[in-house]
Amino acid sequence: MTTPVEEKLIQWPEEGVRRIPFAVYSDQRVFDAEQQAIFRGPIWHFLGLEAQIPEPGCYVLAQVGEVPVILVRRKDDSIGALVNRCSHKGTPLLYEPSGRVDRLMCIYHNWCFDFDGHMTSVAFERGVRGKGGMASTFKKEENSLQRLRVHTICGLVFGTLSDETPPFEEYVGADLIANIRRVCGRPLRILGQYSQTLPSNWKLYIENVKDPYHASILHAFNGVMKQDRLTMEGGITMGSRGWSHISYSKMSTDTGDEIYASGDMRSAEISAYGFGLRDRSMTDVWDDFGDKISMTIQTIFPNFVLQQLRNSLAVRTIVPVGTHESELRWIAFGFVDDDERKLKGRLKQCNMMGPAGLIAMEDGMIGGLVQKGIAGSLDKSAVIEMGGHGIEPIPGSRVSEGSVRGFWTGYRALMGF
Ligand code: FES
Ligand SMILES: [Fe+2]
Repeated sequence: MTTPVEEKLIQWPEEGVRRIPFAVYSDQRVFDAEQQAIFRGPIWHFLGLEAQIPEPGCYVLAQVGEVPVILVRRKDDSIGALVNRCSHKGTPLLYEPSGRVDRLMCIYHNWCFDFDGHMTSVAFERGVRGKGGMASTFKKEENSLQRLRVHTICGLVFGTLSDETPPFEEYVGADLIANIRRVCGRPLRILGQYSQTLPSNWKLYIENVKDPYHASILHAFNGVMKQDRLTMEGGITMGSRGWSHISYSKMSTDTGDEIYASGDMRSAEISAYGFGLRDRSMTDVWDDFGDKISMTIQTIFPNFVLQQLRNSLAVRTIVPVGTHESELRWIAFGFVDDDERKLKGRLKQCNMMGPAGLIAMEDGMIGGLVQKGIAGSLDKSAVIEMGGHGIEPIPGSRVSEGSVRGFWTGYRALMGF
């Protein structure tokens, strides 16, 4: 009798991370394996902002991959994170995306828990009139909710389900920690939240965020309106092991008219018609951090983004929903000490970035198009060779997909591909 040879889930091309096999965006088995190896694995996952849960009992719901999580302000003002799953039969304990509660009580049979996840009561524990009730083997202390390890930095809260996850600073790297302190160094004020459904695998979106190559091409208005061009002074900084990154630029240093005009690019064609930004109110920019850096996009592996696009500040999380669907969740913020002009300016600029603006609309659309284009070609691969083969940043340049290759370096390490 012969036994079938076990098929390897993904045969990664021998070129390494400069080729991405299309099957990783479409195969259900890959999606399932990611839940275990990445989302329940040794990663720090963004859960929310401290400002969302200002008082004891305030909570927000989060997703670590498929796992539903409660982020809660405990009675002693500390922050905890628990899996939103009753230890009786698995019912979620909370449903509303955010709110304030006194305790965690399951609607199914009223098992109750405190904010540390300890069980406080069981309905009919001793039965009725001496009959029935929980078995003598049942112990409340053995039926706590599952807790996540939590790390907070500058009002951002991260959690992990794995005991193997390295300390946050080591996981992210010193340069990225410095940028979190730069962008979120004052008490944060939440300006609004929104979410958009992306018709694509979650990894097509995180690749897009890590790819400065497309920003002035797909988003033609960035080139036409001179909002973000690769001719601006800028660069890419890599985090620990190259898994996470920062891309940054200085808008005031752009001298690239000729390169864009002669480059046979869509933005040059549009500019030739005389289009340009006449209403400056959308781009009424001030130097938020006193360093002239007008744009930083920072990712933390696997699916977190910290955005400073001029004065539009936001955190984004990409929630994987299925092989061909993900949800992009945004929280726009400013600072508690912002005056009225700054608050209005940030909100106005958010309109340009968010799902109703040009950038996020185009980024959402392009992932869906890629998904259509690769259908039926899952034995083929993407070519990621801008900036060479490696993940080292090129000093002073953003004309590179090195940070995309960095993401795939981390992905392969965790997935074993
Ligand atoms: S499922 Fe929660 S109490 Fe029964
Ligand atoms: Fe984009």
